[in-house]
Amino acid sequence: MAAPALARQGAGSAGAGSSVLDLGCGSGDPAGIEVAKQHHITGVDISQTQIDLARQYVPAGHFLHGDAASVQFPAASFDAVISFYTLEHIPRQEHEALLRRIHGWLRPGGFLLISTEAGDVEELVADWLGVPMFMSSFDPDVLKRLVVGVGFALLETATENQVEQAHDVPYLWLLACKQSE
Ligand SMILES: C[S@@+](CC[C@H](N)C(=O)[O-])C[C@H]1O[C@@H](n2cnc3c(N)ncnc32)[C@H](O)[C@@H]1O
Repeated sequence: MAAPALARQGAGSAGAGSSVLDLGCGSGDPAGIEVAKQHHITGVDISQTQIDLARQYVPAGHFLHGDAASVQFPAASFDAVISFYTLEHIPRQEHEALLRRIHGWLRPGGFLLISTEAGDVEELVADWLGVPMFMSSFDPDVLKRLVVGVGFALLETATENQVEQAHDVPYLWLLACKQSE
């Protein structure tokens, strides 16, 4: 998956040695591998298979099998939270609560970097490489309002088209910062 300049900028925003949480970390390839070169990474994924792969690909990381929508962490325990191509697999009614919890897990000045499908889709089960895949997402302007509404300052957004099964699919990339209290 191609990450735009925004992702590279976001990855460089947190200083070396900082703590990064990856929600929906997948196999850890490539994001976890890259992040672990300079940061302490914690990954969460709902798939035990992905967690097993992530532990192989990113031996320095700490990986938890769990649901991003309900996993718990202490307040102010991360310098950055990243989540790539995952939010759209969680019902959108839960996105605001998840963003609020992410905000709580971040230290003041901490960063949020997400990519998610950019469409107004309440709930859809689509074919994905022959298996049913749950999708749910907000229009980008709605998602941006939710991010700001829970206390983040938006730093930058970008939309990137990705070719999936011969179709262009737009993804929103969003970099935000938890305002210092
Ligand atoms: C498209 S993959 C992206 C993986 C990785 N972030 C990347 O960019 O390569 C989506 C990942 O989200 C995970 N996932 C889906 N719903 C989840 C949930 N509720 N909590 C945690 N992980 C979830 C899937 O198991 C899968 O690994």
